Amino acid sequence: ESFTPVSMPSALRFDLLARCSTTKARAANLTLPHGPVQLPLFMPVATQASLKGLTPEQLEATGCRLCLNNTYHLGLKPGQEVLDKIGGAHKLQGWKHNILTDSGGFQMVSLLKLAQITEQGVRFLSPHDGTPMLLTPEHSINLQNTIGSDIIMQLDDVLVTTSPDHARMREAMLRSVRWLDRCIAAHANPTTQNLFCIIQGGLDLEMRAECCREMVARDTPGIAIGGLSGGEAKADYCRVVNTCTSLLPEMKPRYVMGIGYPEDLVVSVALGADMFDCVWPTRTARFGNAITKYGMLNMRHAKYASDFGPVEEGCGCVCCRKGEGGLNVTRAFVHHLAAKETVGAHLLTMHNVWYQLELMRNVRKAILEDRYPEFLKQFFKDLHAGDK
Ligand code: GUN
Ligand code: ZN
Repeated sequence: ESFTPVSMPSALRFDLLARCSTTKARAANLTLPHGPVQLPLFMPVATQASLKGLTPEQLEATGCRLCLNNTYHLGLKPGQEVLDKIGGAHKLQGWKHNILTDSGGFQMVSLLKLAQITEQGVRFLSPHDGTPMLLTPEHSINLQNTIGSDIIMQLDDVLVTTSPDHARMREAMLRSVRWLDRCIAAHANPTTQNLFCIIQGGLDLEMRAECCREMVARDTPGIAIGGLSGGEAKADYCRVVNTCTSLLPEMKPRYVMGIGYPEDLVVSVALGADMFDCVWPTRTARFGNAITKYGMLNMRHAKYASDFGPVEEGCGCVCCRKGEGGLNVTRAFVHHLAAKETVGAHLLTMHNVWYQLELMRNVRKAILEDRYPEFLKQFFKDLHAGDK
């Protein structure tokens, strides 16, 4: 089955390949302007147009074909003029595969505590010189058009507060719908860049349902679920994702923003989500943490000083792999480096990104072979074996 959205021009093709017979998991191919990607998918985050420490070739070697950039960061530095001159973010970072950009509002609200939201947009003080700035839906889309990313995100009104005020939550949800309309009107390249809407509404299922109806009616080529990943209870998280996926069109990609713990990924896939992103795998690598099927291992621990095994036994990443192109790095070496050499962080970044992408490749294989429940059982068994 395949479906190309018609009422709004799009620059993607979504081919649904398989549905799990017991969960809501799906496997699909998503063809974007810079090539096809396989769903379910994890997207590593390259905030400053680079995955901290990795060259584009090293990122490519993990199998990554779609990474995330931030409009907020690129808009500040190098800025629109340089991006325009160089011809967009692909050229800036020497990346020939796909890029998704987040719209900027979320980064501002979460990074700059002083950001203020009005109907016009997000007001904030420039982190460089303190001058007042305003990011409007139009400005965000204009920046993302200049960046040339394959998937662009609407500007949304995100509440980062954990104290949910119902009235403010509803205002944010309805404002996000109004801002989507402004984003659609401002989008100059609908046939070369795909605009995704973002469902808001907090943990209130009725508000989420109302938002889904409004957003779905606007017929964007893909749909994101936002406002999660803020430390909500797992049960609440699952209820929200499950409610949304039940109301979303089957033949469009569904992206849950800011999610990246392996256990959250596999559960979210079972609830019908297809795409994810998170800074955690790369950030935690810089703290010396390796993600493995038995959980996270901190390579700074003294016990790894004389451990001559690979970071993860059987791992196919460049760092762990033996033979052709593999570095066959030992835990002892990473431990030794982790103290002060950035190369230790680079090696763990490669391993962690590979781990996340390999997990999703295995998830996809299990869905295609209709054994996803068994896969989940084994996944959690391994993870909990690491608790001992
Ligand atoms: N990243 C994580 N959550 C969100 C969200 O709700 N909106 C946006 N724009 N980005 C996010
Ligand atoms: Zn590895």
